[in-house]
Amino acid sequence: MSPDLRSRVAAELERTRARTALLTESVDEGDLIRQHSPLMSPLVWDLAHVGNQEELWLVRDVGGREAVRSDIDELYDAFKHARSDRPGLPLLNPAEARQYVSTVRDKVLDLLDSVPLEGRRLVADGFAFGMIVQHEQQHDETMLATHQLRTGNPVLTAPAPPPSIVPGLVGREVRVPGGPFTMGTDTDPWALDNERPSHQVHVPAFAIDAAPVTNGQYLEFIAHGGYEAPQWWSDEGWAHRLEAGLEAPMHWRRDGDGWAYTRFGRTTPIVADEPVVHVCFHEAQAYARWAGKRLPTEAEWEKAARFDPRSGRSLRYPWGDDEWTPERANLGQRHLAPAPVGAYPRGISPLGVHQLIGDVWEWVDTDFHGYPGFAAFPYREYSEVFFGPKFKMLRGGSFGTDAAACRSTFRNWDYPIRRQIFSGFRCARDLTPDETG
Ligand SMILES: [Fe+2]
Repeated sequence: MSPDLRSRVAAELERTRARTALLTESVDEGDLIRQHSPLMSPLVWDLAHVGNQEELWLVRDVGGREAVRSDIDELYDAFKHARSDRPGLPLLNPAEARQYVSTVRDKVLDLLDSVPLEGRRLVADGFAFGMIVQHEQQHDETMLATHQLRTGNPVLTAPAPPPSIVPGLVGREVRVPGGPFTMGTDTDPWALDNERPSHQVHVPAFAIDAAPVTNGQYLEFIAHGGYEAPQWWSDEGWAHRLEAGLEAPMHWRRDGDGWAYTRFGRTTPIVADEPVVHVCFHEAQAYARWAGKRLPTEAEWEKAARFDPRSGRSLRYPWGDDEWTPERANLGQRHLAPAPVGAYPRGISPLGVHQLIGDVWEWVDTDFHGYPGFAAFPYREYSEVFFGPKFKMLRGGSFGTDAAACRSTFRNWDYPIRRQIFSGFRCARDLTPDETG
């Protein structure tokens, strides 16, 4: 590993830890220990779990060093205890958890200077370090969702996202030409096992919304009785809609004749041109059917995001292969809300599709599966054990996702009923015979 890569790894680890610290130091001890929702771990569990994964992979495996706290491995193994059970475990208290993650981090920075980083796939290109950076960033997004579920005075602040500067995007579609494109990656050094290997996928021509579905569009679905009309819902979706009593996105409530939402403790009127967020897969699918459309497949989404018709190549990001910058997409918890559609013209894909990266995760209508030639790495529990029809895919990241854990090949998944995550969607449709000519 070159000195440049070592310093980049160190910088990413430190930058990530600063966010973890912000999310865990902005609340008091009671809020760290409390379970804010049965869907979420106590924040203090996330904190020590992040340190424990870092210890397992970097201190013990990559570094070959002695354990810091082998006695707590079982407590922080996500497969041993469901989130709902974690508050009842004999967890490290906040002071102990902070001490633990800082001891682990000191050892990691120490071994980063000396450990040989060639010869093993786990360490080639700094992969193990990149995996741990992404893991902590993923928990930072989870902790941000926990903050959103927390009640009480607001503790997080951030500047408002940038305004829309491209008019006319709501309702506009982009046509994606039919033909093969390259899905997934072999070359992105920190790409995870489920993004690999790259492979050709033939995608027939289709149309996709130029922007995510907005609150204003979603309000029309509500006003037209979308939540009362089973014909727009799948059988499974309608059963869930009844059982859960869904009548609007999570965190919305009626406010006179309209609706308001509560974000990180502050209640404000709905902003019409922001992407809708906190909807489950079933709500997204029902909206799409009501609108005469459907959700894109995962391959369609990725083609719209990456395919460059001039070169025939698939790009790393919609804007090209260069790294993210703040003008390109709403990532990294810089803003605590999605930006209105049309706020990021510098992030559009070669085909002209807006805001595929950042703002809201986008539900797509594909079950979690391995690509042809998939091989679990470095452990089956990262993604392979989740393959199957229980999980739907989400793509593109949200305002809560860090750039280190977001690229056009990145794949996220969740149960189709989940909506505490920062999830929205856009619609797609088949072309008519007239349109295909
Ligand atoms: Fe984890």
